[in-house]
Amino acid sequence: MGWPTALAVAAGALATMVSGTNTCSQWAPCYREGYCDASAMFCMWDLCDPSKSFNATSCWKPEGCVNQAVSFDSVTDVVSIKKYSGNPNTNPFVSVFEPDNAKLADGKLVLEMPYNSKNNRGFGSTVDSSHSFKYGTVTARVKTASIAKGVVSSFIFRSNLVGDEIDFEWVGKNPHEVQTNFFYHDIRNHTNKRSFDVGGDSSAAYHDYTFIWAPDSITWLVDGKKLRTLYRKDTYDRSSGEYRFPAAEGRVGFSIWDGGNAPSEGTQNWAGSPTPWTKDTVYRMYVDSINIQCSGDNPPPASSTGGGKDLTSSATSKSSTTISESRPSSSNPPASPTASSSPAPTNQPSSSNQPSPSNQPSATDSPAPSNQPSATDSPAPSNQPSATDSPAPSNQPSPSNQPSATDSPAPTNQPSATDSPAPTNQPSSSLPPPNKCHVVKVTVAA
Ligand SMILES: *[C@@H]1O[C@H](CO)[C@@H](O)[C@H](O)[C@H]1NC(C)=O
Ligand SMILES: *[C@@H]1O[C@H](CO)[C@@H](O)[C@H](O)[C@H]1NC(C)=O
Repeated sequence: MGWPTALAVAAGALATMVSGTNTCSQWAPCYREGYCDASAMFCMWDLCDPSKSFNATSCWKPEGCVNQAVSFDSVTDVVSIKKYSGNPNTNPFVSVFEPDNAKLADGKLVLEMPYNSKNNRGFGSTVDSSHSFKYGTVTARVKTASIAKGVVSSFIFRSNLVGDEIDFEWVGKNPHEVQTNFFYHDIRNHTNKRSFDVGGDSSAAYHDYTFIWAPDSITWLVDGKKLRTLYRKDTYDRSSGEYRFPAAEGRVGFSIWDGGNAPSEGTQNWAGSPTPWTKDTVYRMYVDSINIQCSGDNPPPASSTGGGKDLTSSATSKSSTTISESRPSSSNPPASPTASSSPAPTNQPSSSNQPSPSNQPSATDSPAPSNQPSATDSPAPSNQPSATDSPAPSNQPSPSNQPSATDSPAPTNQPSATDSPAPTNQPSSSLPPPNKCHVVKVTVAA
């Protein structure tokens, strides 16, 4: 999958941060991919980079694992990141891109990929668990979007910050096949992918896909039948002296993206190409339910402090017991969206229409370092696309930004999932235009 590479690419493509410490202001404390803001899109744990944020505690904390069965019957089961309040118990899943192409329908989570004529390819969606996860058993009941070549569906665990990953992936050209893979620290090892027969067309019926992740092994299953076990002891790398086995806390999630129109030929070959499109085509991946069981090796929810945004108010609802039956009642609506005070529009807001929190200095008033352009004068560092040209700067990475372009050995055999360039719906696409945020101090790469 492309999560890590997308982030890295976006950051690298947009700006080179000044080396050193805090680049974000206290009014927009959370750093992500070259920008600072106070909303979930920037502050959520594992999206937010603590090392470049205002201070070491500006990013929201990891939420910790809770056992939960989510059936996507409740309207609160998934929320757009723009409206996510930071309480994982209110919304177990968050759709992390703009535009948000995930929805709930007939008791299913539906990840949609419509056509984006501007970029001449599909724009998918990605939904992540709002609780963090590390070790345990996760089963998702999924019907893939493998009805046409090029369409990629995935169910994965991923740590963005560290780059560890456990994958199920389906490529449209092989609807009966599921691919399993794992990554350690975003090292792209092309040899670890294993493909299996699903036992039917993955896009025609729901199947249960399970991974069991323990400190010493990972087992992948379909409909309760074991496909593969990977042992940590077999991942030892002599040169580095490390076990290249996933061991970092992250999130569980789902994604659909257009591999057939990816810039990299390797990715196109892997997914099938070209993805057939008419302007009205919408590809859909369905998730009926997901069951997450935390193992004893899990980091517990931080009981005294809680995780997520509000360290104290969410603490009471944190427990190690299941929360699946304790959905918020309708009389207890989600907290008012923080995003409302900080829209991340996909068209071009001027910095003047970004509401400043009433008791805080506006972007213009904000005491910016003297060598830093003010938000009004120059919202974007000069090496970034202007808001007018490209509302979501790293939205559609150019081919030259694609990770596989340089890193991939361009094998003649099928590339693994990590060969894939950042899917077009990967995290960077959710970033707002440069002038959305208080501008961070950057040095333009020479
Ligand atoms: C760190 O920044 C947050 C805002 O992101 C603020 O609430 C907190 O008080 C700061 N902590 C310290 C020690 O300055
Ligand atoms: C890739 O994984 C294989 C085992 O599956 C291992 O032998 C090889 O050393 C790994 N390569 C790298 C670069 O980690």
